[in-house]
Amino acid sequence: MESFELPKNFLMGSATSATQIEGGDQNNSWYRWCQSPGHIHDGSDCSRGADHWNRYPEDIQIMKELHHDVYRMGLEWSRIEPESGRYDETAIRHYRDEITLLLRNNIKPLVTLHHFSNPLWLEDRGGWENPDTVASFVRFTRYVLNELGDLVSEWITINEPNVFLIYGYARGAWPPGKTNLLSMFKALRNLTLAHIQCYREIHRIRAERRFSGPTMVGLAHHLRIFDPEDDKFLNKIPAKLIQYLSQDLFLESMGFGRYGFPLGLGGYPLGRGKYYDFLGINYYSRDMVRLAFEPANMFGSLTVKKAAPVNDLGWEIYPEGLYRLCRKYFAKYQAPIYITENGVCDEGDTMRSRFIYDHLQQIARLNREGIPVERYYHWSLIDNFEWTEGESGRFGLVANDFETQQRTLRKSGEFYGEICEKKIVTREMIKKYFTVAT
Ligand code: FCB
Repeated sequence: MESFELPKNFLMGSATSATQIEGGDQNNSWYRWCQSPGHIHDGSDCSRGADHWNRYPEDIQIMKELHHDVYRMGLEWSRIEPESGRYDETAIRHYRDEITLLLRNNIKPLVTLHHFSNPLWLEDRGGWENPDTVASFVRFTRYVLNELGDLVSEWITINEPNVFLIYGYARGAWPPGKTNLLSMFKALRNLTLAHIQCYREIHRIRAERRFSGPTMVGLAHHLRIFDPEDDKFLNKIPAKLIQYLSQDLFLESMGFGRYGFPLGLGGYPLGRGKYYDFLGINYYSRDMVRLAFEPANMFGSLTVKKAAPVNDLGWEIYPEGLYRLCRKYFAKYQAPIYITENGVCDEGDTMRSRFIYDHLQQIARLNREGIPVERYYHWSLIDNFEWTEGESGRFGLVANDFETQQRTLRKSGEFYGEICEKKIVTREMIKKYFTVAT
């Protein structure tokens, strides 16, 4: 292992989402989804979470101790707008207080408006398949911007549109539990329209109200590597198809406003544009692809590379993938890159330090080669409600005991905090945090 340096102005911190850490809310689509037996592997539900709603001062103190420059957080739409058109002032005040405390600690917030969960009133009206949802989301965004836009200049409209739609509308594993590609593409059209209008509204409101700081708006895209299982031509086709349908189509439609096939025939329903100020990338893993007659899976079956290192959930750990994706997508999308999520499910904390080291090393390499990766948000600050894995998927720099809500910094968290502080990994740090320093 070698020492390496990150750029001096590189910003580091961690990422969370409201539904996963706050606890207390039962008015969202995920809470309802958790109530059906079998949906959540360990039977837990998101109404407990890490009780961040009540413990945010303690969590911000931890961020401070870990030398965070930045923090990516989410807002729970169902708390802010518990019924269609009725906004809860207590909820928005709570977020104002939380954000104010972050700013007082010199931690810059990047705020996500939609991270997988919908208010129940919206879900009951047909969720993202209903075209009215576009207007509802834009109205919610306007409200939030008017209330918080003076404090927050950086926004993510929608987290991982592809994961949200594939799991919710094609695989049926997440709410609303559909297995219908037509529904999925209908929802993608609506998400695209919503994103573009919100992109414009956020810029408009912040400019008109003369809120300070450069406004930065983007998406957090879940990007994976899809490699064919071998050199056979027949496996290359589904690898390309899956990459297009589950990844590039999303970047293209939401980024430029273009309805590529099968959304449309290449038209621009809201006009051609560039609807992102940064390229947000959530990166975790790679899939190997083999041809299979599974239309719902886009004609490919996904496997893990033989003998590859994997995390607790069996996802391949493949740091080079981050390098490949940043190079490839920067070439096309030409915007500063923020790694809006990257992390590892590792309850025993045996892999996380190395995971952090290897991925940050790729980022240092990218920057040396002129690819502007400007930020890194580790997923996650603290163990939380990991969707269908429930409370058993442990991604935190900080371990959480969900019974007592006691936080304990993991060794990897300490390592990460030291990198955040120094923006360098030295020989001494390698000796301190790794038993085998080769
Ligand atoms: C991403 C999600 C995030 C978290 C990580 C592990 O797909 O955006 O909420 O669950 O995976």
